[in-house]
Amino acid sequence: MASFSLFAVLLILLFAARSNASRLYPTSQESNKETNLSVQPRLLQGLTDTSENNGYVHFYAADHQMQGEYYGVSVIMDVYDFLLTNDQFTVSSVKIFSDEGDAIQIGWEVHPQFYGGDSSAHLSAFWFVKTMKTADGYQYACFNTNCSTGFQPEAGAPIALGDVIEPVSEPHGTKQNITIKVIKDSASGDWLVYYGFNRPDPTLIGRYPKSLFTNGLADRATHITIGGYVVAGNTGLVPMGSGYLPTNDSRSMAFSNIQVIDQSGKASLLIHGFRGYTTPYSVSPMINGEFFYGGPYRTTM
Ligand SMILES: *[C@@H]1O[C@H](CO)[C@@H](O)[C@H](O)[C@H]1NC(C)=O
Ligand SMILES: *[C@@H]1O[C@H](CO)[C@@H](O)[C@H](O)[C@H]1NC(C)=O
Ligand SMILES: *[C@@H]1O[C@H](CO)[C@@H](O)[C@H](O)[C@H]1NC(C)=O
Ligand SMILES: *[C@@H]1O[C@H](CO)[C@@H](O)[C@H](O)[C@H]1NC(C)=O
Repeated sequence: MASFSLFAVLLILLFAARSNASRLYPTSQESNKETNLSVQPRLLQGLTDTSENNGYVHFYAADHQMQGEYYGVSVIMDVYDFLLTNDQFTVSSVKIFSDEGDAIQIGWEVHPQFYGGDSSAHLSAFWFVKTMKTADGYQYACFNTNCSTGFQPEAGAPIALGDVIEPVSEPHGTKQNITIKVIKDSASGDWLVYYGFNRPDPTLIGRYPKSLFTNGLADRATHITIGGYVVAGNTGLVPMGSGYLPTNDSRSMAFSNIQVIDQSGKASLLIHGFRGYTTPYSVSPMINGEFFYGGPYRTTM
């Protein structure tokens, strides 16, 4: 139940965070030369302007946001994992949603509380419609496949939602990436989900039926958000992305080959997004469908 409420709070924050996405660019002090932020947990103090300072949930995000009419999106992202505690999690994902309140999010997540205490990177997703409520009135989302309706896995898919992604990248070494593509099937109206590990040609792993959505996603998405967010308890900052701030070197986590898909099915490389972030995390400008993002800190090397 604790995780459930935390997730409900997170959703509220996620939707709220868009409107008060903060400054556009890091100060020179923030645009990091590998700082030792891991030994400065007191940094959390003074950052409560953008976090829910209820003594438990601290929420931070860094992303690129797009607004328009979208029928699909495709991204490649590096994958990392971190040793986290039960009151922390970190997500790197792509989210499509509508003004009216439908959403699909998919990416990788390290979330010990959801995954039996394990700190691996998992392929994680949720879908959300505005009218979903728990018995006690919280808004909630359907996580992975644990609602009676929702994501329909493709027979023979190489991975299921919730599965561990491995191996993962090393900040100074070999990178491992996943390709995520979500595209509206013009015949059925379903949102098809494709996944690839270290390969640019992803395979169909399942779908979100059109019938799930009543508020926008039945027709198209009006927003796309690509990036990450972290939630921390009172136990210090949580790594986002690779844990390093975005400096366009091998340590920074990249989203690349970002393409948006229009109604005719035509894909085009994204050249511009609106940057939003909450310090001490950050996000680079987008260049040719690529950007870097993330921040403090790396707990193990
Ligand atoms: C980070 O900490 C290590 C170990 O204490 C130290 O060797 C290194 O110089 C520090 N780096 C910075 C940028 O302060
Ligand atoms: C959904 O799945 C997560 C992870 O398996 C679990 O922690 C959570 O309690 C589930 N929620 C519901 C509503 O079943
Ligand atoms: C993803 O991984 C594959 C296999 O290592 C590599 O060939 C490709 O360049 C990577 N793509 C990106 C965008 O990093
Ligand atoms: C990162 O640096 C490379 C090499 O200079 C450049 O081609 C690329 O556009 C840069 N990417 C971003 C997102 O700044």
